[in-house]
Amino acid sequence: MQKRDIKMNKIKKIVNDELFEWIRYMRRTIHQSPELAFKEEKTAGLISDTLKKLGIKHKTGIARTGVVGKLTVDEKAPTIALRADMDALPIIEETGLPFSSDIPGVMHACGHDGHIAIVLGAAAVLKENPPAGNVVFIFQPAEEGEGGAKPMIEEGVLDGVDMIFGGHIESHHYVGEIGVKSGVHTAYTDAFDIKITGKGGHAARPHETTDAILLASKLVMDIQTIISRNIDPLYPAVISIGYLKSGTVYNAIAEKAVLKGTIRTTDESIRALIIDKIKKTTSSLSILHDAKIIFTVNPGYPPVINEKRACEFARHVAAELVGKENTVEIPLASLGGEDFAYYVQKIPGCFVRFGGAVEGNENIPSHNPRFDFDEEVLRVGAAYLSELVRFTAKKLHKCNVIYNQK
Ligand code: NI
Repeated sequence: MQKRDIKMNKIKKIVNDELFEWIRYMRRTIHQSPELAFKEEKTAGLISDTLKKLGIKHKTGIARTGVVGKLTVDEKAPTIALRADMDALPIIEETGLPFSSDIPGVMHACGHDGHIAIVLGAAAVLKENPPAGNVVFIFQPAEEGEGGAKPMIEEGVLDGVDMIFGGHIESHHYVGEIGVKSGVHTAYTDAFDIKITGKGGHAARPHETTDAILLASKLVMDIQTIISRNIDPLYPAVISIGYLKSGTVYNAIAEKAVLKGTIRTTDESIRALIIDKIKKTTSSLSILHDAKIIFTVNPGYPPVINEKRACEFARHVAAELVGKENTVEIPLASLGGEDFAYYVQKIPGCFVRFGGAVEGNENIPSHNPRFDFDEEVLRVGAAYLSELVRFTAKKLHKCNVIYNQK
């Protein structure tokens, strides 16, 4: 990874130093008071107060803690939504930053503090100088696993919205780089549990037992052959078992074992095939060894599928702001999850990556206790999203005119 020349001139015209300092202040304030999924009350309060000060009408308490602002320019004009997620993670912060978390065991370790600040920054820019369309500012709870986007949509936040945009700060790119990918951008994130019940007994008399540890070990090995021997290697897929618990003492054969893992795929049929194979593996092992094995899947997020035209708009605006050379074409889907997926299942949209790597700390990923980002990304993000709304409003306006004339 090499730091590139950042072109900040155009960005600084949209987000001047004074506004940047305000956005940064918002980020730091939010960072200091992180809140977990569906508990983002203080955060929502701050967002609500800020929108009020900006003179943007909004509603609170959507999907429990969500906030949605609306800047209405003309009811007949296109409406574009910008989305930020608000939740933090159950991680003990170790950044040593002067504005570190005040809440023990809770940390903004995924940059959602930055996402809120970016969308508030874009709101300030757009309020000051309105675009040719209406803007909906979505601040949603619970992105980290519980899928806050879903209840937000059920409560109607996408009603009347034509296109949606968002982005994620990350450390794989430096500030000034914006990563775009059309089509499949993230993965299905299914979690699974396997509960094995054998028969416990004395370690010296295995013939009287059904060894749950042995079955668990076999399962781990067998499951890891599913992808390598059944899935077309040209399709991305991964199974990771992150938890295995069994046994109590050195001289007893364990009766029970529990495994937990995740299946990441980008294709529905491959996802189904893997689930089916794990099912067959567990049930045949259970017959073979006379043990009870229960396999359950907890469906996660679907993939984010970025719409082609929305990505063209995103690319165009990014290239205008940071230059073509810094508008990075992301070649492959990530096997991470992102509940922005639910929005783009309903309406066209594009989710991008905002480079935010801190020089010297590039190897510290999100969800790490020492995760931080280069705050200049806040300026890039706010400028990009506000310009994107402006550009998209004009583009969709034109389509509507053409469409209506037909
Ligand atoms: Ni995140």
